[in-house]
Amino acid sequence: MKYQLLTSKTLDKKTDCLVLGVWDRTGLDAPSDMLAPIVRDQCDAVIKSGDMKGKIGETLLVHVPAKAASDRILLVGLGDKNKFDAKAYRKVARAAAHALTQTPARTAMVSLAQLPVTNRDAAWATTQLVTELGNALYRYDQTKSKKADKPALTSAVIAAAPDANRKQLNDAIDAGEAISLGMSVARDLGNLPGNICTPSYLAERAVELGVRNKSIKTRVLTEKQMENLKMGSLLSVGRGSKEESRLIVIEYKGSRKSSSAPYCLVGKGITFDTGGISLKSGAGMDEMKFDMCGAASVMGTMTAIAKLGLPINVTAVIAAAENMPSSTATKPGDIVTSMSGKTIEILNTDAEGRLVLCDALTYAERFKPRTVIDIATLTGAAVATFGEVNTAMLSNNEALAQELFALGQDTLDTVWQLPLDDEYQSLLDSNFADIANIGGPKAGTITAACFLSRFTEKYHWAHLDIAGTAWLGGGKKGATGRPVPLLVEYLRKQKA
Ligand code: BES
Ligand code: MN
Ligand code: ZN
Repeated sequence: MKYQLLTSKTLDKKTDCLVLGVWDRTGLDAPSDMLAPIVRDQCDAVIKSGDMKGKIGETLLVHVPAKAASDRILLVGLGDKNKFDAKAYRKVARAAAHALTQTPARTAMVSLAQLPVTNRDAAWATTQLVTELGNALYRYDQTKSKKADKPALTSAVIAAAPDANRKQLNDAIDAGEAISLGMSVARDLGNLPGNICTPSYLAERAVELGVRNKSIKTRVLTEKQMENLKMGSLLSVGRGSKEESRLIVIEYKGSRKSSSAPYCLVGKGITFDTGGISLKSGAGMDEMKFDMCGAASVMGTMTAIAKLGLPINVTAVIAAAENMPSSTATKPGDIVTSMSGKTIEILNTDAEGRLVLCDALTYAERFKPRTVIDIATLTGAAVATFGEVNTAMLSNNEALAQELFALGQDTLDTVWQLPLDDEYQSLLDSNFADIANIGGPKAGTITAACFLSRFTEKYHWAHLDIAGTAWLGGGKKGATGRPVPLLVEYLRKQKA
């Protein structure tokens, strides 16, 4: 897909489809001097007829007289001008992108990025629009014998206000392209089944990332190497599986000073979570192939930042394992020693995410990171609390938490903070080890983060529990690509 900013003062240019907004009361949005009179008349007539009421997200494809420069027009309802906020804008962009990719149009001219959005600028709208266009083009067909019909769209011209800062808008286009690319990488990995997307498959993809990008170096640690590092907690999770566990380290160096301290991302990569000996019940267990979506979002984010060439260093650590029951599997009551030296009583083998993450988080210390963000489908309790709408966030640093919250609101890839009060820590007491791996039935998302917090004392850390937001269930079952938009924006904001 190719994107370009409109270079002329008029929308009266050859294109397969011109996309225009329609307000519910005032009609067509485009200024009259930008449209050819036959086009404006046609649109006004359609709106007057009542076929397009301008309700938010409504779309209508209109054919225009042969004399017009565009073959067709896609009208998109914008709703009430006084209520046109960020979420309304995303709804409009999503509806327009979806409708556009249903048409046979190969080229489009989209006049939506200049719309007045409450508390947002044109750069924000441009990034959202390009992200939504990219997402509308996404198809999962890797494991289908009949490949999906690819949408015809291959290029879009984005209209801008005449006085717009074009450098800023071109950067905004680049950001939207990188974010949607990163999301599609994350979605593909998430959607792949557990028998294909294994720990070693994730490692291969990460190595490929290093081959494709000069600024990325990938290292893959085998079980033997992890044994030497004394990662007894991580290794305990894969014990029951014939798939070997992997620790994947992806280093992106974009800073002019290659020794500049990195930002660190840590991803949970459980390629299938049966629960282990604490076996899950059968219903819906297939969705536990998505238990590597934290790792997938990290891979997507690394892809995106490499494409953008951000001037910072970022190091990603992915803990990949398959959680299976077998005669070699870890049993409830087993005690393991983590890389930190802390001993852990594994009371429930289904609380395996924290077991792989704690060793990855200890490993991250060696990079002397500026911040560490881990991303994990960690607890069913996060789904119970926030549903599919918000990611749960917990942090040992208030400034980092506030930064992520604000960016979540800005990008609409939202996160809400839960407390990490000391009072919850005692729920993890064990009579037999330094710490237990579960905290009982109460405050499940918080006690999981409390467990991780025992391994993150040496740096500023935030934990994103994406159990509810990483994929959708039901008829729209599939990975969402979240929280790639949040992570990319966080890293775009950081200084070298
Ligand atoms: N991967 C699951 C969390 C999960 C469950 C995500 C459902 C999305 C939907 C995690 O490994 C897990 O099993 N967590 C347990 C922890 C419990 C045993 C303390 C949970 O949340 O039930
Ligand atoms: Mn589990
Ligand atoms: Zn899990």
